[in-house]
Amino acid sequence: MLDVHLDDQDIARHLRADVATGLTAPAKWLPPKWFYDARGSELFEEITRLPEYYPTRTERAILAGRAADVAALTDAKTLVELGSGSSEKTRLLLDALLRHGTLGAFAPLDVSEAALREAVAGLTADYPDLDVRGVVGDMTRHLQHIPDGDNRVVAFLGGTIGNLVPAERATFLRDLRAVLGEGEWLLLGTDLVKDPAIVVPAYDDAAGVTADFNRNVLRVINSRLGADFDVDAYDHVALWDARNEWIEMRLRARTAQRVTIPELGLTVDYAEGEEMRTEISAKFRRDGLAAELAAAGFALREWWTDPQGWFAVSLAQAVTAG
Ligand code: AVJ
Repeated sequence: MLDVHLDDQDIARHLRADVATGLTAPAKWLPPKWFYDARGSELFEEITRLPEYYPTRTERAILAGRAADVAALTDAKTLVELGSGSSEKTRLLLDALLRHGTLGAFAPLDVSEAALREAVAGLTADYPDLDVRGVVGDMTRHLQHIPDGDNRVVAFLGGTIGNLVPAERATFLRDLRAVLGEGEWLLLGTDLVKDPAIVVPAYDDAAGVTADFNRNVLRVINSRLGADFDVDAYDHVALWDARNEWIEMRLRARTAQRVTIPELGLTVDYAEGEEMRTEISAKFRRDGLAAELAAAGFALREWWTDPQGWFAVSLAQAVTAG
């Protein structure tokens, strides 16, 4: 079953608004959510298999070791997954929760209707006793549409919360808290602060897959808004911002560029060497994350990391109203 709260027109309207805002700002920027058309999602899947990109396999190992603990601690009846994407990690959780015997429903929420339809079909076939209910929506706008229930566990994995700037994170966590009842759960994956010599190559791999992924946002704007970005005229930049403790991805115009975006009636000029921010990927520390959670009405109950302390999966519980 699929519950659709986002259609193509709605997506197009948001893309137009984001591109108009970002490309007319004094320092140009684009939000990272627009990387993920079919090609972008494939490129991301390819990134997760790169030797330099440690987050996916590290998180998977933590979850494999802790999924049974999640089940025992939460007695989850419903698992909600935000930005579900590929379902491999999901299955680890589903298997553990089903084995524990409390789980009745799974609700993946994703912006991509096509991807979700496929995932729901696959999961329905493989888990015939589970009520699989996909929600097509944007996790920053459609949290109120996650299914009712009690003892829900909301999984937000992959470190994707790091793509939000701190103010956006605060809003997101408060909004999530507002749709949960006291005692319900958030299972959160966060990449951790570590030596930049480890982090930077994860966002600037030798094979150039991340560079291609980064440039894909220009292809998306070309195809959806009729723009004429010369995609190959931009270099991929990944840098560690030590003050904010985040990775910043940028696209740098190799030479001066003029871009027209007919659907917006907009012409955008780039100077030679001009850089445009396309993503931040924040890295966390336990204390900072616990404080952000507490400010939103969540208490950190468990903090699980890999032996190197590179990535954390935490389990937080909704407490006082957020
Ligand atoms: C899936 C959003 C967590 O920030 O590490 C991978 C996306 N960007 N390489 C991340 C990404 C560049 C990824 N997230």
